[in-house]
Amino acid sequence: MSIRRSAGVCFAIVLFACGENVGETPTIDVTEAELRELLRIPAHLPLPPYPDFNVPTEPKIRLGRHLFYEQRLSANGTQSCASCHEQALAFSDGLQAPIGSTGQPLVRNSQGLGNAVYHSTLTWANDGFLHLEDQLRVPLTNDNPVELGLTDGVRDEVLARFDEDPAYGVLFEEAFSDSSSGATLNKVIFALASFLRTMVSGDSPFDRYVNGERSALTSQQVEGLRLFNGEKFECFHCHGGINLSTSFRDHDTDAGTVRFPFFNNGLYNVDGEGSYPARDQGLYDLTLDPNDRGLFRPQGLRNVAVTAPYMHDGSIATLREVVVHYTRGGRNIESGPDAGDGRLSPLKSGLVRPFAATDAEIDAVVAFLESLTDATFISAPHLADPGPPSL
Ligand code: HEC
Ligand code: HEC
Repeated sequence: MSIRRSAGVCFAIVLFACGENVGETPTIDVTEAELRELLRIPAHLPLPPYPDFNVPTEPKIRLGRHLFYEQRLSANGTQSCASCHEQALAFSDGLQAPIGSTGQPLVRNSQGLGNAVYHSTLTWANDGFLHLEDQLRVPLTNDNPVELGLTDGVRDEVLARFDEDPAYGVLFEEAFSDSSSGATLNKVIFALASFLRTMVSGDSPFDRYVNGERSALTSQQVEGLRLFNGEKFECFHCHGGINLSTSFRDHDTDAGTVRFPFFNNGLYNVDGEGSYPARDQGLYDLTLDPNDRGLFRPQGLRNVAVTAPYMHDGSIATLREVVVHYTRGGRNIESGPDAGDGRLSPLKSGLVRPFAATDAEIDAVVAFLESLTDATFISAPHLADPGPPSL
């Protein structure tokens, strides 16, 4: 895990200190209205954050979309980003945890990417990944475990594949017109980040309801929303706001006010003192502060009905079981290596406590969570595989 944080830090240094010419365009003159149109942001959602050195443009988004679906972007040509992030599943993969391109298993569940751009930090538990430009280096270059496998030894060979393909040559040139250096890792990252900023989901029944269409939710879903936002279920404290997560930031958020929440929601307690299984202790693996054991980012819940299984390790199979988990105030694992009573964890958030709920109430909250599925987003042509580029 510490590899992940240092990767982010190095990247910032590479960007600013070495000043590789990747066509950073801080002087781009673009209005908010133009950016909203380019990124297709619906009126009720804010403009996502982007760094000044990577203002989204149409050619960068086009290149990023090709790269997202491009298997040649993995060292051995077997995987693309889309292997673990499928559009029909809101860009998650349906597995408990994915396998990287060389067959190494990952410990964490693949995250849905709809509205990921609005999170104040990226991934399940990393307080250092504030921008996609930092985080994307991980799936591209990580060597333990390998995801796409662009490790130092093979990176140039992989990038040369794009220089040798005339159609990609044009896409890179259009996206980074003030640079003549061909494909570079930073350009790949900048283009992918620009494409990810178009993965905005804002047309679910819940959105239509928020926009005043009262019939968009069933009466059961309205009841579920009320419970979700009430003091018995407590969900909204951690999953509040338009992105259903208190980990939230938009383009106008003042750096001084942005919140970086992480919580232990009582999934594990292997030693009676609040430890999670050693394979993944969340924020603790970066900070080594014992109080950070089991701290994870509250996941945004958009499209959550299509991103099963749930939690950082995919250890809960259904939405109903997730809601039941919260009614019990944590999870008791009776036997096996992960045995322990999460309900009694001293590190669990005070907002996760047992409460009595009827089956009808649990069903209503599940029905509300199902209203967050955005059928337009998971089938949107502009986010689908464009096929190989051609001249
Ligand atoms: C082998 C499977 C795999 C591949 C390939 C992969 N990812 Fe991921 N992705 C994951 C997993 C697992 C996580 C959660 C990582 C964590 O929490 O440490 C994740 C997290 C993310 C996140 C953070 C989302 C959030 O809500 O914070 C983004 C963005 C992302 N991936 C984009 C990409 C892109 C772009 C590519 C291609 C360059 C890619 N991924 C390739 C499995 C994969
Ligand atoms: C104290 C903060 C907190 C509260 C209260 C809370 N959650 Fe969560 N939620 C989290 C965190 C943190 C995670 C990720 C935990 C992990 O993976 O270890 C999460 C994960 C989830 C997930 C899984 C998402 C995914 O994509 O895997 C769902 C669904 C969910 N919560 C729904 C709810 C509902 C419904 C309620 C109310 C009954 C609720 N949460 C209350 C913090 C909270």
